[in-house]
Amino acid sequence: MKAAFVTRFGPPETLQLRDVAKPSPAEGQILIAVKAIGLNFADVMSRLGVYPGVPKPPFIAGLEFSGVVEHVGKNVTSFKRGDRVLAFTRQGAYAEYVCVDANHAQPVPKKMSFEVAAALGVTYLTAYHGLITLAKIQKGERLLLHAAAGGVGTAAIQIARHLGVEIFGTASSAQKLDVAHQQGMHHGFNYQTEDFERGIRQRTQGKGIDVVMDSVGGMVFRKSWRLLAPMGRYVLYGFAAVTGRRGINRLRAIKEIVSTPLIYPPNIVSKNLGLFGFNLYFLFDEVEYFRKASRQLMKWYDQAIIKPVVGARYTFDRIAEAQELLQSRKSYGKIVVNV
Ligand SMILES: NC(=O)c1ccc[n+]([C@@H]2O[C@H](COP(=O)([O-])OP(=O)(O)OC[C@H]3O[C@@H](n4cnc5c(N)ncnc54)[C@H](OP(=O)(O)O)[C@@H]3O)[C@@H](O)[C@H]2O)c1
Repeated sequence: MKAAFVTRFGPPETLQLRDVAKPSPAEGQILIAVKAIGLNFADVMSRLGVYPGVPKPPFIAGLEFSGVVEHVGKNVTSFKRGDRVLAFTRQGAYAEYVCVDANHAQPVPKKMSFEVAAALGVTYLTAYHGLITLAKIQKGERLLLHAAAGGVGTAAIQIARHLGVEIFGTASSAQKLDVAHQQGMHHGFNYQTEDFERGIRQRTQGKGIDVVMDSVGGMVFRKSWRLLAPMGRYVLYGFAAVTGRRGINRLRAIKEIVSTPLIYPPNIVSKNLGLFGFNLYFLFDEVEYFRKASRQLMKWYDQAIIKPVVGARYTFDRIAEAQELLQSRKSYGKIVVNV
């Protein structure tokens, strides 16, 4: 079978298809014939070698996919051959066949396409975890969302819109802001060309923001932190600011890291603020929690409350180009690779 390996840390062309033996499921595992792979920004950061916990190359990249169960290992009762599933793995999804523990897979309803199934996992669980589990966002609150037109961004807008939240978002182009507006964002700012901090202060008559969802960090963190209203919650879940269009620009990365304010805990007390950080990669074994969250997401999908925005589709042999697009900041929604 073919699998896409990160052959060394570096630019997109270091991602290469190689022939490897088809795996067979161990006890408790299922073997899945992959139909669609969901790309995540974490895949780009893994290829660049800056993702926490990333293995040494060569390794097969990828975190999520959908497909059909081909074999079940010993003691698996939850799935049978022919079942349609979506599944998660800590690297290894960029392949024609993948084995996962049965409890890291879930059934895909008949009327859902493999493409949608591959786009409905990580991004929506990320938005759900940040907005609902951690920030406990409430109707009428103000949300500031960075990278609003991306995979997580569009998912978060759809969820926040359903909850009756007022949504402020940033993106790096007018076209991306249009995409976010189409999903239900109320106020958009191009953070490459305008000062979103000043704009939001004006639009909120100085009241500020209740919840920030930040995957960019650095200078964006500094400005957004200052916008938090009393009882505000800040959710930091990524640090895209350190990456560049072709790779890591060390100087720029250092500048962004230095721009991140040091937060002195007693100040959080007197200002009535909360700061959360999370990385789902390190919550991989919280199977019950994610199953419950996924059930809610499937219900919302069924009720047409959420619908993944698939911004680009690629074939498996062009997976390096798909990653290049994600790294370029020109993509919107979720990129799906059909296998
Ligand atoms: N902690 C977790 O568990 C978790 C889980 C999933 C995703 N994430 C994080 O959430 C973010 C969104 O993930 P995604 O897969 O949906 O990706 P995405 O939002 O579709 O793509 C990343 C976006 O980040 C923005 N960005 C800002 N600064 C950037 C820079 N220097 N280089 C490249 N992009 C930059 C770009 O949007 P603009 O051009 O509009 O700024 C870009 O389109 C990523 O940072 C990812 O690492 C975290």
